[in-house]
Amino acid sequence: MWDKVQETVSYLKGRTTISPEFGVILGSGLGSFTNDMEIECTIPYEEIPNFPVSTVLGHKGALVFGKVGTKSVVAMQGRFHFYEGYDMQTVTFPVRVLKYLGINQLIVSNAAGCVNSDYKVGDVMLIKDHINFFPEHPLRGKNDERFGPRFVNMSEPYSKSLRNRAKVIAALHGIDLKEGIYLGLQGPTFETLAEYKMVKILGADCVGMSTVPEVIVARHMNLDCLGISVVTDMGDEDSIMEVNHQEVLEAAKKAEPVVRKLIKEFILSF
Ligand code: HPA
Repeated sequence: MWDKVQETVSYLKGRTTISPEFGVILGSGLGSFTNDMEIECTIPYEEIPNFPVSTVLGHKGALVFGKVGTKSVVAMQGRFHFYEGYDMQTVTFPVRVLKYLGINQLIVSNAAGCVNSDYKVGDVMLIKDHINFFPEHPLRGKNDERFGPRFVNMSEPYSKSLRNRAKVIAALHGIDLKEGIYLGLQGPTFETLAEYKMVKILGADCVGMSTVPEVIVARHMNLDCLGISVVTDMGDEDSIMEVNHQEVLEAAKKAEPVVRKLIKEFILSF
């Protein structure tokens, strides 16, 4: 894994002059953040050695290098999901690559179902903490100490100081930002009503099929994370929707300008 990561990093360093400080993972329907970047180069995943190729509709599948103001950024347009059939090492491989490209902070976004009746479709939620309900763990197996320790502290998976900064940015720009717990499930089915109920009982506000493995691996390498969920459908008993992927994408698209603004101003604030 170490050698593969280094090989991919050297390939990418040969294709861009950008030394990114920020990594951004763009979730379903949220890919247009790259319009806020002064793009130096876009590298499709299929051209990147050791990268898997995304199979999901609405995920473009490219690494985009560029600047937001004076800040150097690499954005992942499209990510890899466990439900696509990849193992967890593959799902999280790009996060390791971003780390060794030099990023200090990882901003992770996703589209999510919601079980908190105080929220509504289109709301944006800062992820305060997560619950890992994936059936496989990205750090299972022999640990490579070069990446990080065997036993990773998870008391602050989403950096408190980054969250506080995001809240200030949101307030400054009139963005209504919720803060809550994200629960990660493997999918690809959306939840049954009983499962949404379970998610709520377990103490989560939002549920989705990504983010958790990436943040675990980021924390393994001591990368600070900021997580943002966009509520694309409601799963609470009173307002449960018959959700489908198209609706998720459309709801995410509607909230996209807000998320874009938040991420852009967040990066510019440093
Ligand atoms: N459940 C799981 N993942 C999701 C959902 C959902 O309701 N909406 C968007 N991603």
